[in-house]
Amino acid sequence: MIIAVDGPAAAGKGTLARALAQHYNYHFLDTGALYRMVGLGVVSAGGDPRDAAAALKAAESLRPDKVNDADLRSEAVGEAASIVAVNPEVRSALLGFQRAFARKEPGAVLDGRDIGTVVCPDAEAKIFVTASAEVRARRRLAEIAERSAAPAFDVVLAEIKARDARDSSRAHAPLIPASDAYVLDSSDLSREEALAKAIAYVETRRPR
Ligand code: CDP
Ligand code: CDP
Repeated sequence: MIIAVDGPAAAGKGTLARALAQHYNYHFLDTGALYRMVGLGVVSAGGDPRDAAAALKAAESLRPDKVNDADLRSEAVGEAASIVAVNPEVRSALLGFQRAFARKEPGAVLDGRDIGTVVCPDAEAKIFVTASAEVRARRRLAEIAERSAAPAFDVVLAEIKARDARDSSRAHAPLIPASDAYVLDSSDLSREEALAKAIAYVETRRPR
């Protein structure tokens, strides 16, 4: 079984997808980390994420087993990721790995932007997690404050909105719910409440 979890930045996709994978004992893939690795690869080599050739080179030399989580989490790397993610050649270079992962037995949970629409359109369960931009900015700010000095709320909100705009308006695999996705608005939900709703939905989609 494949569970696709998509949605905008800081909606709670990763938290929910990890919890679902644990609940069902499935494999878990954070596909945003792949785009973040490409963005980080370009920037740390002194390149510009808008440079299509540099981004493609980073995507083709990607070693998904070499994820170093801490380096990938900054908002600057998130922004570089969303810039390289506009490039269709970068997207197709990452497709094979994601699709092969999704076929792992007994099941897999993938989180990203286009899992239910492009990577795994045949996924049995598709969840589109969302929350208001203000709630998402507050969540991201709390995460940053745990690691370092917190920036102003307005700065984080502006970054979230800029990333939403870039992810939603791109021509290839834009951020939109699949027509058959279950839309889960987590604005007023705790992690536990969001998980309970997601499990209730997945149960209706499980092969019997
Ligand atoms: O993966 P994505 O960027 O969508 O979000 P995340 O990193 O999973 O979650 C962002 C933050 O929101 C985390 O600190 C979560 O603990 C928190 N959160 C959540 O994930 N779900 C809720 N219903 C409430 C808060
Ligand atoms: O955790 P957060 O939601 O902030 O971002 P992420 O899931 O780590 O993704 C970083 C960026 O990669 C996004 O803003 C997207 O532009 C891109 N991405 C994508 O295009 N397709 C995916 N399946 C996953 C991420």
